[in-house]
Amino acid sequence: MVKFFDIYQQDKVKFHKNIKDIKNIIKNSNFINGKQVFNFEKNFAKFCNTKYAIGCNSGSDALFLSLKALNLKKNSEVIIPAQTYCSTLFAVLRAGLKPVLVDIQNSNPTLSIKDLKKKITKKTSAIIIVHLYGECCNFSEIKKAIKKKKIFIIEDAAQAHGARDFSSNKDGLLAGSMGILGCFSFYPGKNLGAYGDAGAITTNSKNLYLKLLKLRNLGGIKKYEHDIIGFNSRLDTFQAAILNNKLKSLNKNNLNRVQIAKFYNLNINNKYIKKIKYSRGCVYHQYVILSKKEKKIRQLLEKNKIQYGKHYPKPIHKLNAAKTIFKNLSYPNAESFSNFGISLPIDPNLKKKQLIKICNVLNSI
Ligand SMILES: Cc1ncc(COP(=O)(O)O)c(C=O)c1O
Repeated sequence: MVKFFDIYQQDKVKFHKNIKDIKNIIKNSNFINGKQVFNFEKNFAKFCNTKYAIGCNSGSDALFLSLKALNLKKNSEVIIPAQTYCSTLFAVLRAGLKPVLVDIQNSNPTLSIKDLKKKITKKTSAIIIVHLYGECCNFSEIKKAIKKKKIFIIEDAAQAHGARDFSSNKDGLLAGSMGILGCFSFYPGKNLGAYGDAGAITTNSKNLYLKLLKLRNLGGIKKYEHDIIGFNSRLDTFQAAILNNKLKSLNKNNLNRVQIAKFYNLNINNKYIKKIKYSRGCVYHQYVILSKKEKKIRQLLEKNKIQYGKHYPKPIHKLNAAKTIFKNLSYPNAESFSNFGISLPIDPNLKKKQLIKICNVLNSI
């Protein structure tokens, strides 16, 4: 069996340290807002090259709290890509704002600048740019498209821990450091994954940092002082301890993913398979291929006991929960990624033998 992703094997060397840290938290009964949370926030902000990071309970809440923190005009428009995880959409709806979809590019998973330019109106208050599959959006082009309008850029960096965009800076801008706010998920399967739900928001703004500390902690920082209406969306102390340990190997794991992607790029050679275009700086949360023979490929992978994924089987406008909002609208590139995309195994510890097997199976169609 070639597993899609194997968290236990990846983290085996950290097993004893993780258990020891968990025992210590129990011994000290430090369950809520323990020091591990603040340590992780400091370490993660440094990793992302931002002044601040605020832990919260998930990537979904990171997006929602970010929109809340910006205090956007009710019913103003927030642009999001048509191919992303449902949470990007739900955050906009939960915040009482109007989602507007833009298509992605035809062979790259990030939003189409051409379509973005058409969708910006006087009512646009924010754009959530999604660094899908670990591929950063072209930030300098997005800024150009906005011109000087007061539109906030929020990054959905749930899939892009450590990814860089080289479009505006020769050293590359880190995911989470480009927009006014950067939203991360530490869902277990992410490049940096916890052992349950967890998320964080990064920012360079002190005001937003202070506001978000309150928003995630029922509206206050001190016990029983609730200055604003807030939410219970704290980062769990156990998860912060695990994340602190795992953060140390994130760069190495990302490099392994890049090597795996290079292997696929070189060794998948089949006229029925289209490789999508990733840029330098991508951290390959997913390696996705497109094929009109998608069904046949899936059958073949299953027959050969190779696990795969679909990210995502339905674009945003086709989700049952959203069908009525986006009735009669079509986003052809997002639809094509849903219909023809297959995510190949991308576990950072995949062995060369396994990669050869995957490529041989794909080339045999
Ligand atoms: C692009 C994107 N946005 C948001 C989320 C939501 O994160 P979470 O599952 O931590 O709520 C995810 C992950 O699942 C994601 O991939």
